Amino acid sequence: MKQNNIRGILEKHPIIPVVTINNEAEVEGIIKKLQDNGISCIEITLRTDYALSAIKLIKATYGEEISVGVGTVVTKDQIDAIKALEVDFIVSPGINASLGEYLIDSGIPFIPGVATPSDIILGMQMGWDTFKFFPANLFGGIEALKTYGQVFPSVKFCPTGGITGDTYSSFLDLTNVISVGGSWMMK
Ligand code: 3PG
Repeated sequence: MKQNNIRGILEKHPIIPVVTINNEAEVEGIIKKLQDNGISCIEITLRTDYALSAIKLIKATYGEEISVGVGTVVTKDQIDAIKALEVDFIVSPGINASLGEYLIDSGIPFIPGVATPSDIILGMQMGWDTFKFFPANLFGGIEALKTYGQVFPSVKFCPTGGITGDTYSSFLDLTNVISVGGSWMMK
């Protein structure tokens, strides 16, 4: 199963909220927003000191109903810390062969980030076919994805970065987009 079956996760969740959590007081409001939007998935970024505690709390309290992913994963130490938390998926903003081997060994579904054709080729050499396209708004957005669809027909993307309530459905309409991520629905 490629990337520990990340496609299985993405196919269930066309919209992936990317959330940065600073403290426990924010958690309840974030979960309420997800529920109000009918979303049963969250990507919690490792961009704050509180992130790992937030993941633990949300897994323990809402783990049955919400798929909990971890974002902004860029080191092996972070992967070690995450393994114990039994998260549902891992998102990295970039792609790297040795980090990639580590992600495979974790057994956790994962999606690496790509921006350029060379990044995509590296991922294909690793045996992968599903990538975060990041930052989508800065690397050509919808037009770039259309071109990548012609050049890499077997590859599917989850674009994130600068996607809004006005633009997300145009991304989802592309045949090579499996889901979209971002923070617009949490604002
Ligand atoms: C990410 O890590 O995917 C982005 O920070 C989300 O981007 P956005 O906040 O511009 O939607």
